[in-house]
Amino acid sequence: MAVRTLVVACALFLGMCVVINGGPTEMTHAFCRIVWLLAVPCDQVNMALMTQIKAMGSYKLSSVTPDLIQANHTSAVGQVESVNFTMIPTAMSMGCHIEGSSISAFWFSLFDNGTNYCNLHNVIQGSGLTKAPGFMEFTNEWLCLGVGLSPCK
Ligand SMILES: *[C@@H]1O[C@H](CO)[C@@H](O)[C@H](O)[C@H]1NC(C)=O
Ligand SMILES: *[C@@H]1O[C@H](CO)[C@@H](O)[C@H](O)[C@H]1NC(C)=O
Ligand SMILES: *[C@@H]1O[C@H](CO)[C@@H](O)[C@H](O)[C@H]1NC(C)=O
Repeated sequence: MAVRTLVVACALFLGMCVVINGGPTEMTHAFCRIVWLLAVPCDQVNMALMTQIKAMGSYKLSSVTPDLIQANHTSAVGQVESVNFTMIPTAMSMGCHIEGSSISAFWFSLFDNGTNYCNLHNVIQGSGLTKAPGFMEFTNEWLCLGVGLSPCK
């Protein structure tokens, strides 16, 4: 049986809570899920993420819609991870709730030393959104294998 967990975090300034439901559906693949909150409209977030992914040579955009950006990431050792950024406007302010997920294609990268975390974190950091108003990041060891294990390169 897969380990399931529920993470609830609240950001008072945005007047909302984040609920991250569930563990991985497939325990045989390394994965990472992160939720970010930003006091920036989703269309600007979408543009910033897309621009950043295009600028990074190790990513390949698969599809872009106003609420979902899908890409593949190839790491140095030739492993491929599938990466999603899902954007949902927040109800209260002109903010955006972003869920990032990264899943390794191969079982042998289950202990990924934080690769999946870095796939997501490097994009959001490179895009400059980590410096945007109200930026908050939520994740933990259950949602994101190897988070905090290694600094992202
Ligand atoms: C991303 O990977 C998936 C699964 O391996 C594949 O179906 C898709 O074509 C890839 N997309 C790109 C743009 O390479
Ligand atoms: C990305 O989103 C697509 C469509 O909802 C889904 O099929 C896929 O499993 C997701 N991939 C990740 C890494 O979450
Ligand atoms: C994780 O790091 C260890 C120690 O640096 C290394 O031996 C191992 O190959 C790494 N695993 C992956 C999947 O990168």
